[in-house]
Amino acid sequence: MVVPFTPWRPESWQAKPALQQPNYPSAAQLAEAVRQLSNLPPLVTSWEVMSLRKQLAEAAAGKRFVLQGGDCAERFDECRPDSITSKLKILLQMSLVLVQGAQKPVIRLGRFAGQYAKPRSDDSETRDGISLPSYRGDIVNRPAFTSADRVPDPNLLLRGYERAALTLNFIRSLVRGGFADLHHPEYWDLQFMQHSPMADEYHRLAASINQSLRFMENVLGAHTTDLQWVDFFTSHEALHLHYEQAQTHRVPHREGWFNLATHFPWIGMRTAEPDGAHVEYCRGIENPIGVKVGAAMSNDHLARLLDTLHPRNEPGRLTLIHRLGRARIADHLPRLIKAVRESGKDVLWICDPMHGNTQTTSTGIKTRRFDDILFELEQAFAIHASLGSTLGGVHFELTGENVTECIGGASGITEADLGANYKSEVDPRLNYEQALEMAFLMARQMMPGGAAPAAR
Ligand code: PEP
Ligand code: CO
Repeated sequence: MVVPFTPWRPESWQAKPALQQPNYPSAAQLAEAVRQLSNLPPLVTSWEVMSLRKQLAEAAAGKRFVLQGGDCAERFDECRPDSITSKLKILLQMSLVLVQGAQKPVIRLGRFAGQYAKPRSDDSETRDGISLPSYRGDIVNRPAFTSADRVPDPNLLLRGYERAALTLNFIRSLVRGGFADLHHPEYWDLQFMQHSPMADEYHRLAASINQSLRFMENVLGAHTTDLQWVDFFTSHEALHLHYEQAQTHRVPHREGWFNLATHFPWIGMRTAEPDGAHVEYCRGIENPIGVKVGAAMSNDHLARLLDTLHPRNEPGRLTLIHRLGRARIADHLPRLIKAVRESGKDVLWICDPMHGNTQTTSTGIKTRRFDDILFELEQAFAIHASLGSTLGGVHFELTGENVTECIGGASGITEADLGANYKSEVDPRLNYEQALEMAFLMARQMMPGGAAPAAR
């Protein structure tokens, strides 16, 4: 199919139906916040964006593996040194484990420095006969059920941008300053780690990596500076289109427009309409982009997205993040893989085993089961392999903290334990131990001749 040429501008999405946008009481205040935001310096550079795109192309070709993870929604008051470092620590630890399993470099893609806007199933929430706008993330309003907290405030766009900048500044300093130095994985240990059933296995792995590094340095007679530290890229759902538009710029010496608020924006499942505003916005930027793919997406819908978002089949441009759920993956993933193959386009496939496996307990708590998440992952590896396709990465909602939001794992969190330390206002995250255990179980499966999927 030939895609008709239609002009694109950072604001051309405004002529399309835009789902999940807040209703601001004052258009003038919104315009002023967008104006201020568009004058602020970027958070990332086009060099970094293009470097990620190249690395994602390599992941699509099976030469790298992506670990994407972080909170469902970042909170402004969690922009603290301890919560940022513990998120980095768990991502670093998981990535070491995955490097060993995959035997290839791992791309670390944080759900951070901008993951502040959330899609909601209803525009409003009613309690005791009072209806207020739904909480849509800290960049839009606040969770407390009062009208002062719930009215969308455009100044929060600026506060969110500042928090993203603070987060990223701290991450960059830590990474460059030695925190992510592979010679010192002990820096990544978390306080409560010694109680973890995974601690010994992890420490053995870290020690063996350290030994290999020193061995290479002795053989090469030099410090392996290229290997010395690891990098992080940022990602968030490109949901709030005024926020994304405001930081979409041209750069000197490169063609096209770049979203410079994040390296990797993705389109959520609820906003992936081919004729909708989110697809319109994303089609015009040069960043690598992701699209969440659920079981309700038809082959025709997917084909239209590929035409619109990936017309030139540029390597690394498009990532499909499937989030089908343990009960649906076997029915839907094969057809989706075949539909992409028929389009002749190359994509990077990532499995998000979280969002298709959310359930509510009898007492009304939103949770996910470790075994469901693991089962979907195992299925994803097996289905891609059986069709000669490549699963190039994984996507998790996780935290470096000791929360009790998901059920199961070696530490045995039960439904009754969920109340102990449940902090998420939105989706339940794997805690530190569950995330590290998940990485070990995945790594085992990825090793050549690795464990076959367990029957469950
Ligand atoms: C999310 O990643 O937090 C999310 C809302 O996912 P999805 O769009 O896949 O439902
Ligand atoms: Co979520």
